[in-house]
Amino acid sequence: MADRDARSGEDNRPTGIPVLRWEEPPEGPVLVLLDQTRLPAEEVELVCTDPAALVEAIRSLAVRGAPVLGIAGAYGVALAAVRGFEVAEAAAALQGARPTAVNLAVGVRRAQTAHQDALARTGDAGQAAAAALAAARALHREDAEASARMAAHGLALLDELLPAGGHRVLTHCNTGALVSGGEGTAFAVALAAHRSGRLRRLWVDETRPLLQGARLTAYEAARNDMAYTLLTDNAAGSLFAAGEVDAVLIGADRIAADGSVANKVGSYPLAVLARYHHVPFIVVAPVTTMDPQTPDGASIEVEQRPGYEVTEVTAPQVPVAGAGGGIPVAPLGTQAYNPAFDVTPPELVTAIVTEEGVVSPVTAEALAALCARSRQV
Ligand code: MRU
Repeated sequence: MADRDARSGEDNRPTGIPVLRWEEPPEGPVLVLLDQTRLPAEEVELVCTDPAALVEAIRSLAVRGAPVLGIAGAYGVALAAVRGFEVAEAAAALQGARPTAVNLAVGVRRAQTAHQDALARTGDAGQAAAAALAAARALHREDAEASARMAAHGLALLDELLPAGGHRVLTHCNTGALVSGGEGTAFAVALAAHRSGRLRRLWVDETRPLLQGARLTAYEAARNDMAYTLLTDNAAGSLFAAGEVDAVLIGADRIAADGSVANKVGSYPLAVLARYHHVPFIVVAPVTTMDPQTPDGASIEVEQRPGYEVTEVTAPQVPVAGAGGGIPVAPLGTQAYNPAFDVTPPELVTAIVTEEGVVSPVTAEALAALCARSRQV
């Protein structure tokens, strides 16, 4: 895995952020990632030449966010295939790199199935690798399309729920172009509102401990000239109490069959606040984030991350000192509780916005019908 300056790469994304791309230099195909751990200080790319490098990039959150994890996983299988690694082994390692975002497993399986089918049909490793790559490219393209459709559905829903206009939207974690083949999920809805002159303010939760809100959502909001304000996660309560939040828009890492939503830790408290203050709590996620195999919230595996992410400041700009590479902010030896995600029960979710339409109220039956409809398309 090698670093390079991202500004040298070609990029035709609307926001100009080269999140991930497949390249075929003479030395052999590579997957190029924008290293999100270095944002916003610097735009540096990671060049993955083998699946192990991609697994490490996923674990370290160099690439992160549910939809793009699926796309990266699919390209990872293609990378293994074209470079002659054992595909099943690489697929298992990729799929196991992070447990909560179901998109990762979905993306890996899609490319692996394409590879297996082509191998069975042709008996040719080259053709099988090409099939895996085609599957990854298709997922990448479909995710961009899904993102645009979610933005349109989400904006229509906001207008319906908030007829007065001038939306003040609170968001958590990062759900924009950095997590997607397109402009993202929840952030794409806020961006659509901004472009149509309907976004009065985007409230950006900093998102402890890894600051995806401060480092990444604020970065995307600034690049898009949105009116945004950063707050500590703990400040959300007083913002609701002051009547400053019209809607909450968040993404999802996995939506169980009953409509329970796993998303970045801190989402559930926002849902509780939103209910208390009669504010819509809207989840925006592609159908690939729905997991009909997981019956309910209690069955969702929540990733536990190392304690040093809490006991140290691990932002990329700080000098190296502690065990995790950051400055200690707690006494040495302090234990930390550091789940990466929490689960919001369906009764606290006003609506789930997908590319196939809006589910509201959120019920197991409505979600099953939506999944069935999307499989027929
Ligand atoms: O740990 P992360 O940064 O991968 O967590 C990401 C989130 O929780 C996002 O909100 C989620 O993946 C939805 S992105 C559309």
